[in-house]
Amino acid sequence: KQRLSSKKEKTLAMIKPDAISNMGQIIDLICKTGFNITKLKMVRLTKNEAFEFYQEHQGKPFLETLLSFISSGPVIAMELMGDNAIGKWRDTLGPTDSSIARSAAPMSIRARFGTDNTRNACHGSDSPISAAREIEFFFPTAGINRQNTAQFNNCT
Ligand code: PPS
Repeated sequence: KQRLSSKKEKTLAMIKPDAISNMGQIIDLICKTGFNITKLKMVRLTKNEAFEFYQEHQGKPFLETLLSFISSGPVIAMELMGDNAIGKWRDTLGPTDSSIARSAAPMSIRARFGTDNTRNACHGSDSPISAAREIEFFFPTAGINRQNTAQFNNCT
C-alpha cells in the first residue's frame, strides 16, 4: 500500500476585491481547513504592481481585465503554511471560473464567494516557484515593508 507523502509548504493566498466583504468567513475557513496564517497584509495594488504580480499572463487576452479588477480595490495577501499547502489551497479554492465551481465543487471558496472567471474571490500560487515569488512580492524579506507584516503562529 502506497503512503501519501506530505510536506510542509508555504503558499500565497490572496482575497480579491470582490470577496473583501467576505474576509471574515474566508479567513475562518482557512483556519478550519488547517492552514496556519504566518503573514497577512491588506493592500491596494496599483496597475503596475498588479502587472508585476501577474507577469506570467503577459500576452493573454484577459490580462487587461484582470489587472483592472485586481487594482480596483483592496486585497488581502496571506502566507499560508501547512502540509501540501500549495495543492491543498488550490483544492479549497475550486475551479478558476466560479460559475463552473458552483456545479463542480459547490463547497469551494470560488463557488461560495465568487461570480465568474474574473471575479473569483481568491488566488492561490500554482507551484513552489510561483509561491516563493508571490510571497516575496507581498512580503519582501528586506526593507521597510517588513514592518507592516502581521505574524501569526496559528489560528486555532
Ligand atoms: S491560464 O491561461 O490557464 O494560466 O489562466 P487561468 O489559470 O485560467 O487564470 C489565470 C488568472 O487569470 C484570471 N482570468 C481572467 N481574468 C479576467 N478575465 C478572464 N476572462 C480571465 N480568465 C482567467 C483568473 O481569475 C486567474 O486569476 P488567479 O488570481 O490566478 O486565480
